[in-house]
Amino acid sequence: MHSLFSSRTLLRLRAVWRAGAAPLERAGFGPRAVKFATVGVLSGVIVLLIAYVVAAALGGLGGDRAAQLPVLVNSALVTRGAYLARAGDCTACHTAPGGGRFAGGLAIASPIGTLFSTNITPDRRTGIGAYSYGDFERSVRRGISRSGRTLYPAMPYPSYSRITDADLAALYAFFMHGVAPLIHRNRSEAVPWPLSMRWPLTYWRWLFAPRPRSFLPRPGQDPIVARGAYLVEGLGHCGACHTPRAATFQEEALTPRDGQRFLAGSRFNGWFAPSLRGGDMAGLGRWTASDIEAFLMTGRTDKFAAFGEMSLVVHHSTQFMTAADRIAVAWFLRTLPPASAKRPSAGVELTVSQTYLDECAACHGADGNGSPSGFPALARNPIVNTNDPTSLIHIVLTGGAMPATHAAQTQLVMPPFGQVLSDKKIADTLTFVRSNWGNHASAISPAKVTALRRSIG
Ligand code: HEC
Ligand code: HEC
Ligand code: HEC
Repeated sequence: MHSLFSSRTLLRLRAVWRAGAAPLERAGFGPRAVKFATVGVLSGVIVLLIAYVVAAALGGLGGDRAAQLPVLVNSALVTRGAYLARAGDCTACHTAPGGGRFAGGLAIASPIGTLFSTNITPDRRTGIGAYSYGDFERSVRRGISRSGRTLYPAMPYPSYSRITDADLAALYAFFMHGVAPLIHRNRSEAVPWPLSMRWPLTYWRWLFAPRPRSFLPRPGQDPIVARGAYLVEGLGHCGACHTPRAATFQEEALTPRDGQRFLAGSRFNGWFAPSLRGGDMAGLGRWTASDIEAFLMTGRTDKFAAFGEMSLVVHHSTQFMTAADRIAVAWFLRTLPPASAKRPSAGVELTVSQTYLDECAACHGADGNGSPSGFPALARNPIVNTNDPTSLIHIVLTGGAMPATHAAQTQLVMPPFGQVLSDKKIADTLTFVRSNWGNHASAISPAKVTALRRSIG
């Protein structure tokens, strides 16, 4: 970790200063211009210093009386906490492949470098065993670590800010008493200086993370829809993947009240998480509430299947929700009107694609309707019709496997075509798929396939 005042930082600043002034003088700038630049740089530094001092002094503040209350732990509360930890999918990020449960260490790619999730088992030295309820509340709902540092928003605290006091107390009881303590030291992030400085994140948090318990059912809202809203906006943090982000990385909307960008579809880790709003082709407009419920329980409907990141969400999280909670999620999603997106122009109408018939039709049907043995339909599939074809290209390159869930144990597999088909063939086949059988989406260029192939390695 770096402090602004470490001598290493000062040495760096001096080097930067020298490197900056020399070419100015060499370029023939007079002493006045250099002085002018000096004053400019110095006032910039002073503003930064003030920003730093304010963030350092006030950044760790927050937490209200409720956060100081002791939690009366009993086994029912621990069991409830275990359920909520699944609904919140804590394991997705806090359990690394091959690592201990909740021991952290999962590498998470971010635009500034690789971040690592932390150990949230109750080990006192390397985990959160020494956390009071107030410490836990501040981490999970406010994004402030016990030491007062702001957490990276890779931890979805803007969503978790909506978790109620009662649910948070249950989560605390579970992590303190229902999880085995594991010794596993946290890794610090692989982020280059100066981006590794944490204090600027305090401003990000002040600007973009809502204060806790801003979740309020609207007056007159159906209680089932309100429950669904709570799960989707809060614990389920569905928007972390499905809501587009601004250039400054905050989700553009955290609730339906923030506008139509909420759950309007977003790119994530080489996949495209499609719109969960209404909408005929690229949204869930054609899905019934029971389609959505079945998808969240089994990772499939009679037409479509979960893949990529969503396969993991179903596997770790939504299959364990109660039917009542999944139905609440479905009902809430059905209340979201379509985003007023412009309709993509239709692709070239191709009459037949030999590659499709050779490589895809055996499973997905010559008519794109899938097969009764459970292979998903491509006709009128939102993944096929969505404007951003990232997920579509990704699954053809790398293949996929339906999540195995308790309710549906067969794991149908789609083979990868990355080594079998050229970028041109993949682009042409998908363009064919996107413009037939009632599908209606723009053509895909071979360059798009090449670019994604490169970015996923
Ligand atoms: C999408 C990924 C993701 C999910 C889901 C997630 N976390 Fe985190 N969490 C992180 C990351 C990454 C960090 C470390 C952030 C940092 O270093 O600034 C973190 C940090 C924390 C911390 C702070 C630990 C410390 O060392 O101070 C706590 C507590 C925590 N998470 C609890 C939870 C709980 C409880 C859940 C489920 C309700 C959860 N997390 C779900 C990614 C996630
Ligand atoms: C870690 C990222 C991530 C999170 C969190 C996430 N999703 Fe997804 N979701 C995806 C991706 C990627 C897809 C596209 C792949 C697919 O269709 O299975 C997807 C697809 C879906 C689909 C199918 C849409 C379609 O048109 O085919 C539904 C329904 C869905 N998600 C619901 C949810 C709900 C509800 C939540 C919150 C409980 C959620 N997702 C949380 C990444 C995520
Ligand atoms: C051996 C059978 C098989 C073949 C051949 C096959 N697929 Fe698939 N496909 C599947 C299965 C199974 C899934 C579900 C995968 C998952 O859930 O991870 C799937 C999923 C998909 C999806 C995502 C749809 C959804 O809603 O889940 C698309 C798009 C797709 N395949 C396109 C293609 C294309 C294009 C080809 C030919 C290049 C092809 N598939 C060849 C079996 C196959």
